[in-house]
Amino acid sequence: MRQADKNIAVLSGDGIGPEVINEAIKILNVISEKTDIRFNFDNAFIGASAIDKFDNPFPDPTKDICNNSDAILFGAIGDPKYDNNPKAKIRPEDGLLEMRKYLGLYANVRPIKVYESLINSSPLKSSILDKTDFVVFRELTGGIYFGEKGFDNKTNSAFDTCRYTKDEIERISHLAFKEAEKRRNQLTLVDKANVLETSRLWRDIVQKISYEYKNVDVQYLFVDNAAMKIITNPSDFDVILTENMFGDIITDEASVITGSLGMLPSASIGDKISLFEPIHGSYPQAAGKNIANPMAMILSASMMLDLSFGLKTYSEIIDKSVSDALDNGVVTEDINKDKNYSTTYVGDWISERVKKLL
Ligand code: IPM
Ligand code: MN
Repeated sequence: MRQADKNIAVLSGDGIGPEVINEAIKILNVISEKTDIRFNFDNAFIGASAIDKFDNPFPDPTKDICNNSDAILFGAIGDPKYDNNPKAKIRPEDGLLEMRKYLGLYANVRPIKVYESLINSSPLKSSILDKTDFVVFRELTGGIYFGEKGFDNKTNSAFDTCRYTKDEIERISHLAFKEAEKRRNQLTLVDKANVLETSRLWRDIVQKISYEYKNVDVQYLFVDNAAMKIITNPSDFDVILTENMFGDIITDEASVITGSLGMLPSASIGDKISLFEPIHGSYPQAAGKNIANPMAMILSASMMLDLSFGLKTYSEIIDKSVSDALDNGVVTEDINKDKNYSTTYVGDWISERVKKLL
């Protein structure tokens, strides 16, 4: 039987976004050619490129294309011309935050995986990194990012509010517990319950939910302590669950210990539609040079096949092909300064490998 067509919104964004997304599409097209699955791609603007064209980092045509899609592939956003300018009226990042809220992308899932062949690029000793394999579930549409905020000219003061509702905490917690059940049955809630009221609410709710997942062992860790343990004992973690701001910080920390920022994919899960993007940013210095590492984007497309379309077999084929590329030294300059290949070459190599394995 023919699989239904899958409509994919392609939000390439800024910097190296378009280049790495092209490589992911290349691989999805190979799967299309060799199977009865069809992917339809619809391009839309977001971030700085959308501000240039529409004066809006998340314009209406982009909203429409996202709403009509089954999943979203996202490259990167950000442009140096908006950085370090506190007076900028519109920022590319506003588009990202609005999109998360608009599409209800409430759970950001970031797997932290260590590749054998990259272990020596890590800032950590390989003995510490050994067996590290965890995943962070970061709440993405609540907390201090989206609470009431303001600036008062008279008193020269500013405020940001952190607020969480029971429902917001529950829905991501269930996802995280379910994932723990599929993995090593261990969940760590990262919070600051010794200081923050919202953290105490998280603890209370997570503790109640834990009775529904009898096999999962739950631990509670203050975020400052968690920040240390990610460096000193990263292999102790299985599933980390945390709120928006803490998640932002510890996922950046966690991503660098693998020694390969260019390798890490992520998923932002929504009620209806989910979005898949690499963890790395727009890397403007590399834009247009055909040197960016496409692997995190390709692995994000792989997560899409698994999580949005239930095509785990194909997702595993992509993951294997990426590992094979690494093992064969087919890598970009971020991974090997002395012997490296272009973005397009690495993408071609991986797509040939996928073709063989299909
Ligand atoms: C991320 C980014 C964003 C965030 C920025 C660009 C608004 O750092 O996706 O982690 O803070 O969430
Ligand atoms: Mn971040």
